[in-house]
Amino acid sequence: MSQIDVRTALKQGLAQLREAHVSSFTLATELLILHVLGRDRTWLYAHPEEQLSPADTERFFALIARRSAGEPTQHLTGKQEFWGLEFEVTPDVLIPRPETEHVIEVALDRLAVRELRAGRKPTFGGDGLRIADIGTGSGCIAITLAKELPGATIYATDISSAALVVAKRNATRHSVADCIHFLESNLLDITTPQFDLILSNPPYVGRREAETLAREVRDHEPEIALYGGEEGYEIYADLITQSAAHLKPGGLLVLELGHNSLPAVQPLLESPDWTNVAITNDLAGIPRVIAAERL
Ligand SMILES: C[S@@+](CC[C@H](N)C(=O)[O-])C[C@H]1O[C@@H](n2cnc3c(N)ncnc32)[C@H](O)[C@@H]1O
Repeated sequence: MSQIDVRTALKQGLAQLREAHVSSFTLATELLILHVLGRDRTWLYAHPEEQLSPADTERFFALIARRSAGEPTQHLTGKQEFWGLEFEVTPDVLIPRPETEHVIEVALDRLAVRELRAGRKPTFGGDGLRIADIGTGSGCIAITLAKELPGATIYATDISSAALVVAKRNATRHSVADCIHFLESNLLDITTPQFDLILSNPPYVGRREAETLAREVRDHEPEIALYGGEEGYEIYADLITQSAAHLKPGGLLVLELGHNSLPAVQPLLESPDWTNVAITNDLAGIPRVIAAERL
């Protein structure tokens, strides 16, 4: 393969991804060349004349071909940022999404309010708190909370043993493996003392919506992480019943919602078990998080 410079490689890669109707094709081209060269963006634009080695050129265009065929960029680079932290991703886990950061925000806000109400300092390290993340996937929620609340003990469950392997590697990468217990379990089918906070971003896509998903998602992300049932919201009923049984009085439940889950999920929290139910929209204005307190 003949040698080309960075600028030409970018131009050709970008043209191929645009031709293949890849969304965010400029960003994807940049991320792939940065991955191949092991450089950052500042270097990239400061060195447009730098020659790529034949091996790097071959690797780059092989990745461009795989991206054009529908593989997600994150599967090609093996990583995704979430809450400012870098997470390993593989085809065994859902790629962490930016909207899931709202789950973390809501949980930290509600915990701070609870501390204020109890007359304690709102800035605390979560000392003594017991937290469960159900369906941990890459571990992004559990690990972010372990970083934010270093005094907490966290349980992270998943029905997928392959996902738990990736989550454990991510916990080690972020030096929080000692604060998180990873458990293979169907939802919260575990025997532990009661929790102060339960969070989950459950599978919530409806199987009947499968054809509307982007091919990157439908053909490459794990089905067990995507589909919550025929409609999508089926898993919430068990999740909420089990959470009610596993939360201390005054404990918090924070759940991510699918784009159409709210009408099915909100009534499940209108029961004598729950109070202070609140809904938070994402940046697109879609109800994305529902939170409630156990009475
Ligand atoms: C939408 S993904 C969320 C992953 C990660 N928490 C995140 O926010 O990126 C849902 C996760 O729940 C897991 N899962 C699906 N059904 C489950 C069940 N019945 N019990 C426990 N985990 C389940 C899947 O394996 C997947 O990792």
